[in-house]
Amino acid sequence: MNVHTTKESLATALAPFRNKNKIGFVPTMGALHHGHLNLVQQALDENNCAVVSIFVNPTQFDNPGDLKNYPRTLKEDTALLETLDGPVYVFAPDAAHLYQGPIVSKHYSFGSIANEMEGKHRKGHFDGVGTVVGLLLKAIQPDNAYFGEKDFQQLQIVKKLAQIEKLKVKINGCAIVREPNGVAMSSRNKRLTFEQFEAATLISETLKEVEKRFKSHSISEINNYVTTRFSESQQLKIEYFEIANIATLKTAQRIRKGNKYRGFIAAFAGEIRLIDNMALN
Ligand code: PAJ
Repeated sequence: MNVHTTKESLATALAPFRNKNKIGFVPTMGALHHGHLNLVQQALDENNCAVVSIFVNPTQFDNPGDLKNYPRTLKEDTALLETLDGPVYVFAPDAAHLYQGPIVSKHYSFGSIANEMEGKHRKGHFDGVGTVVGLLLKAIQPDNAYFGEKDFQQLQIVKKLAQIEKLKVKINGCAIVREPNGVAMSSRNKRLTFEQFEAATLISETLKEVEKRFKSHSISEINNYVTTRFSESQQLKIEYFEIANIATLKTAQRIRKGNKYRGFIAAFAGEIRLIDNMALN
């Protein structure tokens, strides 16, 4: 596996692909799973090579414990990537090299999409994401970049970032990959006990039920349903449930024809924060 720790060495490796071939890019924080691999496979299918960055970005964590305990498994990650067929380049820089100066966030004006849900509950998170994704996109200059709908709000933020920074890259969204029990794959799942992992099915099952009820129930009835279901759980504590318009990410007060909506949940299993979302129409 080609692992590069500096921009210069990665640029040399990518030089033969510039201009006549397409470069696909998948930014990650490592602890790779099949949700990540699916993004890399799509990058390989649509480009001549794929770059996967593995970098646990300190500026997007609002909780020092979460940053400290975030799984770091570079050896296993490269072994997983080796199972794919195609030229894959790993970029795993350290923070000093990537940031080239103080390791702090830039301040972006993403507008109202940054103030909802994850933006409201994780202060500074999207400035951190924008900063690191901006640095990575400028260093790699890919034709395409791939992001999961698992972090739906992040995907919208990155599209906005590409506009703000006038980057030539095309931002592509990819469907959520789930465990056989329905739980959305996540690097943080590695930290769950078996009981917590089983209990986490409540999140996707609730979203599925919300999708069923969406046509026939009011938003406040659905909100009550979700609150009751979570109040019965010993293992999971809900942080938020929202039905939001996918264009604005604002909480829907009432459903308007022609608009698209998704249901979003953030919940804690002990210390571990899990998020998921589902299309409703
Ligand atoms: P990370 O959580 O490692 O996720 C990397 C990419 O994989 C993101 O685009 C995320 O949405 C996608 N992903 C994760 N789980 C997925 C699943 N179950 N199905 C589909 N896609 C999934 O998101 C980040 O890292 C960081 O914020 C990053 C963008 C790398 C910036 O630091």
